[in-house]
Amino acid sequence: MALQRPKGTQDHLPDGSPKLKLDTSARAFRHVTDTAARVLERSGAAFMATPVFEEAELVKRGVGGSTDIVRKEMFTVYYFGDHGGYVLRPEGTAGMVRAYLENGLKQLPAPFKLWTHGPMFRAERQQRGRLRQFHQVDYEVLGSADPLVDAEAIWLMAQVVQELGLKGVQVKLGSIGDPEDRDTYNAYLRDLFTAHLDRLSDDSKDRLNRNPMRILDSKSQEDQELIAELTVRPMLDFLGAEAAAHFSAVRGHLDAWGVEYQVDPSIVRGLDYYRRTAWELHHAHIGAKSALGGGGRYDGLAKELGGQDTPGIGWAFGIERVLIAMEEEGLSIPAAEGPVVYIAALDAEYVPLVASTTLGLRQTFWADFGYKPQKPGNAFREGERRGAAYVALIGSDEAAAGTVALKNMATGEQQNVAINELATVLGAGLSVSERTTGQ
Ligand code: HAM
Repeated sequence: MALQRPKGTQDHLPDGSPKLKLDTSARAFRHVTDTAARVLERSGAAFMATPVFEEAELVKRGVGGSTDIVRKEMFTVYYFGDHGGYVLRPEGTAGMVRAYLENGLKQLPAPFKLWTHGPMFRAERQQRGRLRQFHQVDYEVLGSADPLVDAEAIWLMAQVVQELGLKGVQVKLGSIGDPEDRDTYNAYLRDLFTAHLDRLSDDSKDRLNRNPMRILDSKSQEDQELIAELTVRPMLDFLGAEAAAHFSAVRGHLDAWGVEYQVDPSIVRGLDYYRRTAWELHHAHIGAKSALGGGGRYDGLAKELGGQDTPGIGWAFGIERVLIAMEEEGLSIPAAEGPVVYIAALDAEYVPLVASTTLGLRQTFWADFGYKPQKPGNAFREGERRGAAYVALIGSDEAAAGTVALKNMATGEQQNVAINELATVLGAGLSVSERTTGQ
């Protein structure tokens, strides 16, 4: 059997592929990243890209040793010499913060807004919308602890999703407090769950020592049943005065801007670097257990990575999950633009002239040509199939006269045009049709 792609990965396919769906369409991915670029760059965010593999230590310290991501889902990179000290990044934030610190971006005026997109890797059990290589759009702001920055980040995330046309998205907002608040909460959880140790999954027995809060987002059914029975008090009840004031300031801004959200007192998030504001985007078709996206504040992360103390906040959404939600909502992406002109030779000897004419036009236009001679009817059909605005033919008469026979595919009008005037005629024709469609 022919070799296949690794489990939990997807190929991003070109238009026309027999197995094309929105979440495997290369053009749909590009549409999402283009939309994010427009919204985020309009808001002053700069694009930055970091490596897809990083020191394992960075991910351990960043994401946190008690998380499922670090404990069970890391792809370790081995290479000749068997280093094993690198991992494929499971998320973007730790690398973005590392790059910000390492490249002196801290010297630039703060807050500094960054965004990126790219593949992330987690060795999870595969299901629809849960992949081992998935893709995120990621936004990070460094250098401000102002709740206004939190609110703007949430607004921006909602804005990207809205510009993609999604309607059924819910913002679930919470706070996981400051580290001291979390210590108090973890002490409460430890007491609570220790009394029911026999009912906890083995993983959660382990979590009880390391970080009891992780029990709350356990994927085990027995754990979730116990949590439901015990009516566990939420983290939000344990906020200290400062974290509580920060949370209400964030809410105040969102309310003033009319951003819709629900307070979710039990939000915990699956990464350890968060503090204070934390939120998730949910969508009915993605299921309650999985989010479309998530984010939060991570003021301690830069220091944890060995850098200067720098507050930060950010979010990421999964491009595949966004595309699944778009497909479920019946949304589509804008149609691909066809070529401006398709040029064919009526005889083999004119193919080189067709090719050189096409290459010249490519300075300005999307132009393509037939590698083999074609009859006029076939050339027009080929142009139509490709969505070309014009089809040009070169046969013996045209070659002798230095012209092409040009057909406007929308109007059916045909004219002979000198090759050296073709670019001008195509440009004029396009601006006329643009004016017409613009009215
Ligand atoms: P996260 O919640 O772990 O946060 O992931 C964000 C989003 O990535 C998820 O909501 C989901 O859409 C997508 N995602 C995660 N795992 C998978 C998977 N296995 N398959 C498909 N999609 C997945 C973060 O990664 C943080 N770095 C977000 C952040 C940025 N916080 C602050 N700045």
